[in-house]
Amino acid sequence: TGVCTFDPGFSSTASCQSAITYIDGNAGVLLYRGVPIEQLADKGDFADSAYLLLHGELPTKIQKRKFEIEIKTHTLVHEQLIQFYKGFKHDAHPMAIMVGVVGALSAFYSSTSEVHDPAQQLRACMRLISKMPTLAALAYKTSRGMPIIYPRNDLSYAENLLYMMHAVPCEPYKAKALETILILHMDHEQNASTSTVRTAGSSQANPFACVASGIAALWGPAHGGANEAVLKMLAEIGTRDRIPQFIAKAKDRNDPFRLMGFGHRVYKTYDPRSKIMKQICEQVLENTGVTHDPLLEIAVELEKIAVHDEYFLKRNLYPNVDFYSGIVLRALDIPVSMYTVIFAVARTVGWVSQWKESMLEAGKITRPRQMYMGQMERPFVSLGRRG
Ligand code: CMC
Repeated sequence: TGVCTFDPGFSSTASCQSAITYIDGNAGVLLYRGVPIEQLADKGDFADSAYLLLHGELPTKIQKRKFEIEIKTHTLVHEQLIQFYKGFKHDAHPMAIMVGVVGALSAFYSSTSEVHDPAQQLRACMRLISKMPTLAALAYKTSRGMPIIYPRNDLSYAENLLYMMHAVPCEPYKAKALETILILHMDHEQNASTSTVRTAGSSQANPFACVASGIAALWGPAHGGANEAVLKMLAEIGTRDRIPQFIAKAKDRNDPFRLMGFGHRVYKTYDPRSKIMKQICEQVLENTGVTHDPLLEIAVELEKIAVHDEYFLKRNLYPNVDFYSGIVLRALDIPVSMYTVIFAVARTVGWVSQWKESMLEAGKITRPRQMYMGQMERPFVSLGRRG
């Protein structure tokens, strides 16, 4: 059946051609359609970044206005879908709810034209981007047993998400911080969840179902679940004097514990997003009036020790995007169980952009081979003659 290469975890296999996101892992560079992430975070906004990823160019004034209007056109979800939330156990993890409800959207938008017609493909992408904050806030409210809040279309994307979660309009600096977090997390080339979306899409599956598969892949602590895990780890460390003990645990190869928010498959230096995240973290805490945040102090000290430690240096392990994001999200009064959901909201822009791009390709189904390690052919043994 031909020669195949064994590449566990696909660390040296390019699964597709893409013109969306570029990463130079040795130099710590991240570009969306060629534009540096630092410039988008500093000068751009949600619409600039999302439009850029989806269409390939920054929008003109008119294109931006139309894009923002269209996003607002689709923020509501079908009332029947809201019923769906009531079926979840009262204390369900919001990510569990998200996997279900985003998958359920495929029952509401189930025509095959979403897969084959470029105009309908784009509409599906816009629907997903628009509805994610509403679905996320609904998941939060369900997990807390609180009444739901409908979207307000006079608010920006980030403001609306915070409003639907907290039921009151937020301070502008909070919306700005969340918007930057969303921009930083929007796309990251062929990571586990994006590859999952593309793989599901390669079978011509419904785009809403494809994105649900991406949410499932994102959930784990090695991927999007790391932001939640970082905050839990910092809380568990508790005091600065306990840091060395956790560093030693992370270095012990017989202990499965890893420093959460550290290391990356592609970056062999600082993740450029982690530097921006650290700045936002400092700004937000200053605005909140917090002069001493014990978790931030532990994080800063932990980073200082780890980046000078031989174990981490030798393996090129540096803080990644999730190392500081949890502290920012906590300052925005977002509960820990929602951190990965916020990541999913942001990454939806990347997932749909990559899915749309993959639909333009010749359409080869993703079908990796394996290295078979089992028995070769042998006869069936009847029950009476076994063991
Ligand atoms: N703490 C301690 N040791 C580590 C860590 C860590 N966080 N990350 C990697 N290592 C060690 C690992 O034990 C291995 O050591 P050795 O060579 O002695 O066996 C070596 O570094 C290489 O690790 P790997 O697992 O082969 O590397 P990978 O590229 O497969 O994994 C990673 C990348 C992100 C899954 C991993 O670094 C990790 O588990 N980090 C912690 C979880 C985390 O922060 N994830 C968020 C990633 S960024 C957001 C996102 O994209 O989702």
